Amino acid sequence: MPALGFGTLIPEPALTITATRDALDAGFRHFDCAERYGNEREVGKALREGLAAGGIARGDIFVTTKVWNTNHRPERVEPAFEASLERLGLDYLDLYLIHTPFAFQPGDEQDPRDKDGNVLYDRGVTLLDTWRALESLVDGGKCRAIGLSDIGLDEVKAIYEAARIKPTVVQVESHPYLPEWELLEFCKEKGVALLAFAPLGHGMKPGLLEDPVIAGIAARVGKTAAQVLLAWAVQRGTALLTTPRSAARARENFDISALPADALEEINRIQIRQRLNPVVTTGVPGFIPKAKGA
Ligand SMILES: NC(=O)c1ccc[n+]([C@@H]2O[C@H](COP(=O)([O-])OP(=O)(O)OC[C@H]3O[C@@H](n4cnc5c(N)ncnc54)[C@H](OP(=O)(O)O)[C@@H]3O)[C@@H](O)[C@H]2O)c1
Repeated sequence: MPALGFGTLIPEPALTITATRDALDAGFRHFDCAERYGNEREVGKALREGLAAGGIARGDIFVTTKVWNTNHRPERVEPAFEASLERLGLDYLDLYLIHTPFAFQPGDEQDPRDKDGNVLYDRGVTLLDTWRALESLVDGGKCRAIGLSDIGLDEVKAIYEAARIKPTVVQVESHPYLPEWELLEFCKEKGVALLAFAPLGHGMKPGLLEDPVIAGIAARVGKTAAQVLLAWAVQRGTALLTTPRSAARARENFDISALPADALEEINRIQIRQRLNPVVTTGVPGFIPKAKGA
């Protein structure tokens, strides 16, 4: 799996297509999707057109998608997987993730709520039940690898120990304000890749992009704050997902180079702690931005 991944959580369909294509043209070969993002068709179209135009083989890109919380029942997993494949226009996936460990009431409504607005969970299925269904997808040959997302260390360990086919990737929010060192250590020990989302802190301001330590290092090494944050993520041994929406930013985010050891140490000493996506602790889906005007 290429360490630099492009995330497709972009609500606007037209922007999904241009940003995905720009990322491919800039050199990204790892694309992170999800049925929840509602744009697998647009991502698939951009990838097909981009591969054809650039003479790039399907085998040269790495494509992930994720099963949503409403499809955790084992009998719903394969249909959800096949539907994602059809929307993406692919005949296999490099990686399929369980998007979150929280099972929601099964059905077509992605965000099922009661009349008071509370999420309707499905208590009739365990994470291990869903994992077993993902293992069957690997057996079927159309899914190369499986993994977990939005999850804590204890649950990762439980699935890792019970699994017949081990998770190869764990995707969680991670950046200098949420370094997840303990999870990273476990992943390294077991040969699991930790895939960090929000490496730029979702681009929020004030936030990581304006952090004085990051800005100081950027000025010293002649890189942008974004490039410093992405280099840190790779050098500490994670893969990452970033979502540049323009061609210029795609080139910027792909053009990273190694930071000196003292810069890495300086970033590791940052004391601020901030989680931007509460879903991992609350089970309530968070950061799914709405398309402009929606
Ligand atoms: N598993 C999960 O539950 C989960 C949750 C969230 C995200 N993800 C995945 O992770 C991916 C990345 O997450 P993310 O969107 O938080 O990534 P991110 O790269 O941390 O943040 C993206 C934001 O940063 C800004 N940005 C990008 N490059 C920049 C640069 N060079 N300089 C300044 N600002 C820059 C973008 O601004 P503009 O909009 O102005 O371009 C965008 O708003 C998602 O697309 C998705 O695939 C997974």
